[in-house]
Amino acid sequence: MDYSRISLRPFKISDADDLLKWTSDEKVTYYLRWNTITTIEAASNHIQEVVIPHPWRRSICLDDRSIGYISVRPESGSECHRAHIGYAIGSNYWGQGIVTVAVKMAIQIVFKDFSNLVRLEALVEPENIGSQRVLEKVGFKKEGFLRKYGFNKGEIKDMFIYSFLSTDKIL
Ligand SMILES: CC(C)(COP(=O)(O)OP(=O)(O)OC[C@H]1O[C@@H](n2cnc3c(N)ncnc32)[C@H](O)[C@@H]1OP(=O)(O)O)[C@@H](O)C(=O)NCCC(=O)NCCS
Repeated sequence: MDYSRISLRPFKISDADDLLKWTSDEKVTYYLRWNTITTIEAASNHIQEVVIPHPWRRSICLDDRSIGYISVRPESGSECHRAHIGYAIGSNYWGQGIVTVAVKMAIQIVFKDFSNLVRLEALVEPENIGSQRVLEKVGFKKEGFLRKYGFNKGEIKDMFIYSFLSTDKIL
C-alpha cells in the first residue's frame, strides 16, 4: 500500500454509490451502532441527514474515492475536552494499514480543529481485535475493561476503553 493514496475529506452527496458499497456489508456494520444501508436513496439520505450535520466526520479516501469513514464527536458543555472516535472501511481494504494511517491523520487535525480537546476516547468490543490493534499501533493507551457498558444490535456488551491525550505521541 502506497500510503500517499490515502486522504481524509468531508463527504459529498456524490459519494453515495461508494458509501453504499461498505455500508451494505454486515461484516463492516457488525461492531457499529447503526445497521446496514441497502439502497442508494438511503445512502444519499444518510449523507445528507447524518454525515454532513455531524460535528466532524470525514471520508477515508483511496485516490479520492470514499472507502470508509472516521468521526470524532466532542462531548458538550464543560465536558468538551473529551471526544469519542469511531471508524470503518470496506472489508476488501482491511489489513493494509489504511485505518491506522487515517487515525494518525485525524488526530493531527482534530486537536487543532477543537481547541478545547484534550482527550480522545475509543470504546471497542473485546472480540474486535483489528480495531484494538489499530488503536495500539497509533499510540492509544488501553485504560480498562468496562463490564456491560455498550449497547449494540440489541445486546449489552463489555467494552475496552482506550484514550489518546493531546500530549501523547503518535507512534
Ligand atoms: C477494525 C478496522 C477499522 C481495521 O481497519 P484496517 O485498515 O484493516 O486496520 P489496519 O490494517 O490499520 O490494522 C489492523 C490490524 O489488526 C490486525 N487484525 C485484524 N483482525 C485481526 C484478528 N482477528 N486477529 C488478530 N489481528 C487482527 C491486522 O493484522 C493489523 O495488525 P498488524 O498491522 O499488526 O498486522 C476494520 O477492520 C473495520 O472497518 N472493521 C469494521 C468496523 C469496526 O469494527 N470499526 C471499529 C469499531 S470500534
